[in-house]
Amino acid sequence: MNLPDTAVKPPLWLLAELTYRCPLQCPYCSNPLDFARQEKELTTAQWIEVFKQARAMGAVQIGFSGGEPLVRKDLPELIRAARDLGFYTNLITSGIGLTQKKIDAFAEAGLDHIQISFQASDEVLNAALAGSKKAFQQKLEMARAVKAHGYPMVLNFVLHRHNIDQIDRIIELCIELEADDVELATCQFYGWAQLNREGLLPTRDQIERAEAVVHRYREKMAASDNLANLLFVTPDYYEERPKGCMGGWGAIFLSVTPEGTALPCHSARQLPVQFPSVLEQSLQDIWFNSFGFNRYRGFDWMPEPCRSCSEKEKDFGGCRCQAFMLTGNADNADPVCSKSEHHHKILEAREQANCTNIQVSQLQFRNRANSERVNSQLI
Ligand code: FES
Repeated sequence: MNLPDTAVKPPLWLLAELTYRCPLQCPYCSNPLDFARQEKELTTAQWIEVFKQARAMGAVQIGFSGGEPLVRKDLPELIRAARDLGFYTNLITSGIGLTQKKIDAFAEAGLDHIQISFQASDEVLNAALAGSKKAFQQKLEMARAVKAHGYPMVLNFVLHRHNIDQIDRIIELCIELEADDVELATCQFYGWAQLNREGLLPTRDQIERAEAVVHRYREKMAASDNLANLLFVTPDYYEERPKGCMGGWGAIFLSVTPEGTALPCHSARQLPVQFPSVLEQSLQDIWFNSFGFNRYRGFDWMPEPCRSCSEKEKDFGGCRCQAFMLTGNADNADPVCSKSEHHHKILEAREQANCTNIQVSQLQFRNRANSERVNSQLI
């Protein structure tokens, strides 16, 4: 057996994507377009074995996500196993399928933290985006129940051109629900969000207006003890330098898909790179020795302009998945970078955001029928 490369540190974060099943159909979901083809899911025992191995390597935090992780009936058992191993446990949920009874069961199992996502601050837009009329009331009810139970609660809103102008009402709703942390993150363009990018990317004006609102609330918060922490993430499409995606490839983050593929980021499965399965190799071997996890570690793989760039240790050439989606080659610099010869693709998207008139009803929703249709087009 190969010995681990000592320059590579073990993962800190394990994202357990328990399932791709989900009762909602958000058009900005980062799940893969072909999720309908992926029906297999690891069993309870297989997931617990993954947790054990990750914890033995030194991972400290685990996120249960999906799809909608609440559809897994064994969720309390998985939470308990992760907690008993010493993980800090996060549940990342839409709140659909959550009940008071489940909240009690999760608390009893030792769950540390719950993040509930909303689509909008009003029922009509929330329903149009989620594809469910009942979702908004259910989310409100569950956010209150989570809070009443004493959990630290994160409320998450994915922002895009259709809801970013209601950011003041979104923040007011978060205050009313007594969120401890609020994440207002503009769409990251992966999976379904990339498919719908033209209909989702806000304009620069929209972002600037939203930033001003956030700034006003932050000032108000500085003078008050009982308002939530407010995180606002702008889209990298309006940057000139790329993000250091995932804190570096295979550096701190390990994601496992429902059927057991291990990935260095949640989107990497689309890359023309072979990634290993936790059913065939140990996590230790996957993390330190597999081709997929070593593919973009370090700097030797970089072509120009990244190779000689003084900022490469900060941004690692940006996001490999974005480079692949926009240039067809994951080795290229992320086109967000103004030094990239493909940066014009970002400029064109910004321009398009100023002219497009795509309505919510025209977006491609993340559901089985659309996934099957997209799959048939990919074949
Ligand atoms: Fe895959 Fe950025 S999301 S490297």
